[in-house]
Amino acid sequence: MISDKMQTAINDQINAELYSAYLYLAMEAYFQSKGLAGFANWMRVQTQEEMVHAMKMYDFINARSGRVELKEIAGPPLAWESPLKAFEAAYKHETIVTGRINKLIDLAIKESDHASNNFLQWFVAEQVEEEQSASAVVDKLKLLGKSTEGLFQLDKELGARVFTPPVQGAAA
Ligand code: FEO
Repeated sequence: MISDKMQTAINDQINAELYSAYLYLAMEAYFQSKGLAGFANWMRVQTQEEMVHAMKMYDFINARSGRVELKEIAGPPLAWESPLKAFEAAYKHETIVTGRINKLIDLAIKESDHASNNFLQWFVAEQVEEEQSASAVVDKLKLLGKSTEGLFQLDKELGARVFTPPVQGAAA
């Protein structure tokens, strides 16, 4: 059985993960509107990953005989100044999510909730990847500067990103 405090904290994180999905979906729409299908594809995959994160937490609360509570999801921005600004925002967002995951683990440790601590370790590793994948695109966008050719080349590269659904029954 999960404690009320931990349950509330993970429910809040479900909301944050759903907001992340919403944010990346808004970024996908922004890139679609700019004719950058590869960038849009990257964001679509990112949205799907965020849904996986939210559902992992949803399933965890249920597995611990808790109660999932879905809260209102804030509206994301409509547009960004440039592809670079969008990816910088994505990277910054991921650093915020990392901080939230760390706080959840702090709470699990404080409560001696080993099951939650163990569950959340998956997200620690995932956040390293999340930050890295966004910052890699930021770096590339900075390198290509104002090169239209470079932008289209990167668009092609990002168009190859594929969503890989998690293996059923895998840890966390
Ligand atoms: Fe669910 Fe992008 O962290």
